[in-house]
Amino acid sequence: MKGIVLAGGSGTRLYPLTQVVSKQILPIFDKPMIYYPLSILMRAGICDILVISTPRDLPLFQALLGDGGDFGLSLSYAEQAQPNGLAEAFLLGRDFIGGDSVAMILGDNLYFGDGLTQLCQAATARSDSATVFAYQVEDPQRYGVVQFDPRTGQPVQIVEKPEFPPSDWAVTGLYFYSNEVVRIAAAITPSERGELEITAVNNAYLERNLLEIVQLGRGYAWLDTGTPESLHDAASFVRTIEHRQGVQIACLEEIGLEMGWLDPERARARAAILGNTRYATYLQRRIRDLAS
Ligand code: DAU
Repeated sequence: MKGIVLAGGSGTRLYPLTQVVSKQILPIFDKPMIYYPLSILMRAGICDILVISTPRDLPLFQALLGDGGDFGLSLSYAEQAQPNGLAEAFLLGRDFIGGDSVAMILGDNLYFGDGLTQLCQAATARSDSATVFAYQVEDPQRYGVVQFDPRTGQPVQIVEKPEFPPSDWAVTGLYFYSNEVVRIAAAITPSERGELEITAVNNAYLERNLLEIVQLGRGYAWLDTGTPESLHDAASFVRTIEHRQGVQIACLEEIGLEMGWLDPERARARAAILGNTRYATYLQRRIRDLAS
């Protein structure tokens, strides 16, 4: 399965923070935001990943992540000229996807929870259908929302930013699709707000009875980074867990080592470059742990 991290968009809601730099490069506590979604794809077992961003910001991601070799990944890059919608990723990524199934994650989505890796791995195994994750939120009108049949409890449709939400289950920014997604994305037309909506793609799968909606319960965190407050909250969350447990969330080199994609020698060299930081000290410790 291939992976896409969609890290474009205008970022206007965070101005002046994002006036000259991509939102997905901003720090969430001790690492750039894009590390977190990358870590989710990696844990799902995906190492061939396309990063999509704006013409302005793509060079920054290339400078930060390179060809992915530092993490045991193979990274490619593509420009999205305008924020034409999430589903455009599958048109821009058509050649990259080829004949494979594909997972996409939004570059500003942060997930945390025991069991998420297993859920993602199960989703990658369903290569002929689609899987999305829903999460209960206080403000569903900001998201794609699942409408359930009141009698059967089965999902009947997903509604994008409904004024009157049919439930409080928001569809989160992590999507697993069969190769069919390329044809589905090519067939949808822009919505009233002028975007190729991911919700239209999900509804196309739902109509075919090929959409699994996995409800993430209370044991999971799906964090928002859309406002200065939520950015701060996300950073506090990561800091709290990392300090309490002495573990790093989204240490990409650690995941590369655990997956067997990254050579310990290369990880050691990488830790040396990262200098005298908590991140580098942690990485050195993990290289030792994993070798013993
Ligand atoms: O966060 C999950 C929600 O993401 C879903 O519940 C909605 O169904 C889905 O439509 C989307 O909501 P928004 O449309 O409000 O997402 P937003 O415009 O904030 O874009 C999400 C991220 O994707 C953001 O980091 C910017 C990036 N992006 C967005 C667009 C429209 C792109 O890279 N390219 C784009 O064309």
